[in-house]
Amino acid sequence: MKIFIDTADIEEIKQAQSLGVLDGVTTNPSLVAKTGKPFETCIKEILEVVPGDVSVEVVGLTHDEMVAEAEKYAAWGDNVVIKVPIIEEGLKAIKTLSGQGVKVNVTLCFSPLQALLAAKAGATYISPFVGRLDDIHTDGMELISQIVDIYGNYAYDTEVLVASIRNPMHVVSAALMGADVCTIPYKVIGQLLKHPLTDKGLAAFLADWEKANKG
Ligand code: G3P
Repeated sequence: MKIFIDTADIEEIKQAQSLGVLDGVTTNPSLVAKTGKPFETCIKEILEVVPGDVSVEVVGLTHDEMVAEAEKYAAWGDNVVIKVPIIEEGLKAIKTLSGQGVKVNVTLCFSPLQALLAAKAGATYISPFVGRLDDIHTDGMELISQIVDIYGNYAYDTEVLVASIRNPMHVVSAALMGADVCTIPYKVIGQLLKHPLTDKGLAAFLADWEKANKG
């Protein structure tokens, strides 16, 4: 399973990268706004340090606007993936862009049918938002299970990218279901490694080592 970080904060990206298990980055307009940096500067700074896929979201609402934005951003690097919302105009843009060989991450997916259409249009990634579904008392991970099954039934190449992750259990479930990618906030990446018994065990080993005959 690939691990992406869901942030536009360059320091968080560098920290996560230093762990050696980061495969890419996903951004969105809200995450870019949070950095306070100009959009182009923010994205180019990320592209300078990340060799893996970096998702950059379009904000146009028509096919032509989305494609024009996508062509501009795609020229910034071979690893740029264009994030397109799954609306009617977006679906047309996914088809156009995938036909041009541009990698597309389809965002704001909340249903298995949206995921099916995205795959048919040639999406590279589908991003179902699990946390936002959980927020409205709907099981976000059930959507992942449905999409993994549907894509498996027809052998679609589109990768299931679990987004809007809020806790480590989302990552465990995604891995058990065979999702291709999890995009994870910085704080949750830190939580993946932690186990109190690891800390307790290490402290005991080190304390015992102090008492050991080291001769
Ligand atoms: O990047 C898209 C997605 O991961 C957003 O997550 O926490 O804003 O629902 P969240």
